Amino acid sequence: MAKLLKAQNIHKYYGEDGGKLHVLQGVNMEVRDGEIVTIAGASGAGKSTLLHILGLLDKPSSGHVYFKGADIHALPAGRKAAMRNKEFGFVFQFFHLLPELDALENVLLPAMVKNTAFGWLGRKKELKGRAEKIINDVGLWERRKHKPKELSGGEKQRIAIARALMNEPEILFCDEPTGNLDSQTSKEIMELLWSLNRRNNMALVIVTHNFDLARNSGRMLRMTDGKLAKASKGTDPGGRP
Ligand SMILES: Nc1ncnc2c1ncn2[C@@H]1O[C@H](COP(=O)(O)OP(=O)(O)OP(=O)(O)O)[C@@H](O)[C@H]1O
Ligand SMILES: [Mg+2]
Repeated sequence: MAKLLKAQNIHKYYGEDGGKLHVLQGVNMEVRDGEIVTIAGASGAGKSTLLHILGLLDKPSSGHVYFKGADIHALPAGRKAAMRNKEFGFVFQFFHLLPELDALENVLLPAMVKNTAFGWLGRKKELKGRAEKIINDVGLWERRKHKPKELSGGEKQRIAIARALMNEPEILFCDEPTGNLDSQTSKEIMELLWSLNRRNNMALVIVTHNFDLARNSGRMLRMTDGKLAKASKGTDPGGRP
């Protein structure tokens, strides 16, 4: 498996001089093609901060993130935006769906943002077809016209995953994707993510407190004292009740 993503000596500070919070203290990690990596750790350990830095949603104070060999935080803004939108996908604990749009429109959103108005009109049919296929793949064809408030938590997360898939990312960053779901629904979301990994060879980096999910990943990491270390498959990643 080739190396897809590599974080090298990442540091992140929050706050001004004097009261500086040193959240990430030299994080190193690698993700290979099609790999599933989970990250556990106590609340406030810096897991979301790291995920945002890996996925170009935030900048490190120092250190480098390489995606296919390119130092991504050193790229011009336009390339960064394109990479964030095309190569990377995100799934969050609280879904972040737009309440006024129905499920299908929420899934279509990244494609609308990526295309110019003219390009969108020219490709609308094709893009809508793709969104419909993805909704079908995540098992929500019957719900495609529902607004987020008319969907269950698990259904909302499926739509958020479908939206993340719209631009066919090579790596999907998930920040506690089952954090807001009951155990049965969490299991279904995990099975969906795993099947996407197998089908599309899409790498997954998942921040999670869910032991089942972590145990079934290729590699379990734990964040402590601002650093990442390998966690043993025998230990519950817990960290929170
Ligand atoms: N924008 C910010 N400004 C200042 N401090 C921040 C900011 N974002 C996060 N922090 C602090 O950095 C630390 C790490 O936050 P982060 O959200 O990465 O933790 P986490 O491991 O994801 O926690 P949780 O499991 O609760 O989601 C916390 O102490 C948090 O208060
Ligand atoms: Mg977090």
